[in-house]
Amino acid sequence: MSFKQFSSDQDVIDFVQTHTAVFNNSPDLTVTEIGDGNINFVYRVDDGAQSLIVKQALPYIRVIGEAWPLSQDRIRIEAKALKQSEESCPGSVPEVYHYDAASCAIIMADIGQYQSLRQALIERQSLPGVAEELGAYVAKSLFYSSDFYLSSKAKKSIVQDFINPDLCQISEEVYFWDPFCDHERNNVNTPLAARASEWWQDAELKQAVARLKMKFQNQAQVLLHGDLHTGSVFVDPSAEHKVKVIDPEFAFVGPAGFDLGVLIANYLLNLAGQSRAAGEPEERHAYQQVLLSDVNSLWQSLTESFRRLAAEHTQDPCLQSSDIVDAWLSELLTDSLGFAGVEMTRRTLGVAHVADVEQIEDEAARAEAQTMCLDMADLLIKHAGQFSGMPVITAAVGELSFCR
Ligand SMILES: Nc1ncnc2c1ncn2[C@@H]1O[C@H](COP(=O)(O)OP(=O)(O)OP(=O)(O)O)[C@@H](O)[C@H]1O
Ligand SMILES: [Mg+2]
Repeated sequence: MSFKQFSSDQDVIDFVQTHTAVFNNSPDLTVTEIGDGNINFVYRVDDGAQSLIVKQALPYIRVIGEAWPLSQDRIRIEAKALKQSEESCPGSVPEVYHYDAASCAIIMADIGQYQSLRQALIERQSLPGVAEELGAYVAKSLFYSSDFYLSSKAKKSIVQDFINPDLCQISEEVYFWDPFCDHERNNVNTPLAARASEWWQDAELKQAVARLKMKFQNQAQVLLHGDLHTGSVFVDPSAEHKVKVIDPEFAFVGPAGFDLGVLIANYLLNLAGQSRAAGEPEERHAYQQVLLSDVNSLWQSLTESFRRLAAEHTQDPCLQSSDIVDAWLSELLTDSLGFAGVEMTRRTLGVAHVADVEQIEDEAARAEAQTMCLDMADLLIKHAGQFSGMPVITAAVGELSFCR
């Protein structure tokens, strides 16, 4: 069947009414396009009492148009990854009601009562329990798609199901290529120009990034979300499930440290942003301490959950050893710090920046926060293997970024 883009509210309503019974043929449905992302169309369908979300992938990137074609297989991958997350970590994603291959669309639960973690951090909200739940989510995502849990054939089957060449190509370019050279897609704040050109000539840095890129391209370790920044994480500290993760269209089987690294980087980007954000310095500094403590809690929760899962479920006689689990977690930490540095670089010099830093209106003040991001990225990329544990790392990055 040929693909047809939804071109009216009625198209979206017909689609929902055909494939779900949520609205029971209610005549009073409204459709709102709520997508604030770059790639797809996202609609909320609402009857005043209930609502749901429809996400449709066109054969190109939404904000660019037909000039940048993009495989619609991404929406199959997103639907499958959401279902996989629901299995490995129940309640961690919006429920998928229907995936339709012909329309390249997903119908899913509306998590409108949740707020993006990025926005919550920008507002310096207190988020009790969120970092711990995120750590458990990452641990389960890693464990249930790793060789500690899966049979040989099941592992190969997820590698096959999540081959994602178009979106991996974008990641390889925007994380590992553009921000390490003077690329036309880059977005460099004027006062940062000299620092950027030093960055592009730093051979030690580029060697370390090359090793991380090789891992990204070749190491089929676990099923990754692929885009786990704080805009893909939605939170409601008062809910039973405090965390809901959306938008896994970049999912693929890759190196275990990638998602964790991206997540940590986004906490640290907020940390740097707080140093020059609006508001009282004491309040911002106190929140920076909260952010560092959250990163420690996230890691602590992740490692506890992962060790527990391995002790309960691992059958392979060689992988059962707690020494092997410890070694795996140690490599996870090192890799994730490197990937965190790469994510911080691309959000500072590359095409897509983050609101945590971009909201600093004054160009010079923003450049100071961006310089902190690069200082942290430099430390994490070059010295990832030299830290003895997460508290040592958070103490070191705190030194580079506290409000002064
Ligand atoms: N299940 C949902 N419930 C409520 N809101 C949602 C849901 N899914 C998406 N949204 C809203 O739509 C926005 C865009 O969604 P999403 O990030 O999935 O789209 P995208 O086009 O893939 O974006 P990106 O360019 O970041 O890849 C989200 O930031 C969120 O505000
Ligand atoms: Mg997306």
